[in-house]
Amino acid sequence: MTVERWGIQVGGTVEHISMWLLAIILFFVSFKMSGKSLKITMMINRVLYILIIVTGAMLLFSISNINGEYIGKAVIGLWVIVSMEMTAVKRSKGKPYKSFLIQFWISFVLVLLLGFRLPLGIQLFG
Ligand code: HEM
Repeated sequence: MTVERWGIQVGGTVEHISMWLLAIILFFVSFKMSGKSLKITMMINRVLYILIIVTGAMLLFSISNINGEYIGKAVIGLWVIVSMEMTAVKRSKGKPYKSFLIQFWISFVLVLLLGFRLPLGIQLFG
């Protein structure tokens, strides 16, 4: 599902999936990093977080009747982003981050189940 904005096709699940895949990969890569390189990866990932939210919001606005499941999908999607950001921030400061990493795994599994259940794009469950 794509929409046309300024003459280009944007807002499909392909763009959304590409953005969060990149962010998740970069999030894992950042565990190998520290100091300045960690800061740079975190900056790049923040740009990706915005793009995830923008592509997700475009999907949301392309739907004519938004139900609770879509709201839940968006909220859990935001939870994934917050837990990734918090994990990276805590780790960069040398503080405990395990609770945020656990939240990341829980929210990530939930968002995949819900995302691939909802009708747009790829539908694996339900
Ligand atoms: C890292 C965070 C996120 C992940 C891992 C994620 C994952 C996914 C997945 C797997 C799908 C299904 C794609 C498909 O069926 O082709 C999806 C669709 C969607 N996402 Fe996200 N998402 C995230 C963040 C967000 C955010 C922040 C929003 C809202 C602002 C959002 C809104 C949506 C909407 C509306 C859909 C369409 C649902 C449907 O398939 O019918 N997502 N997302």
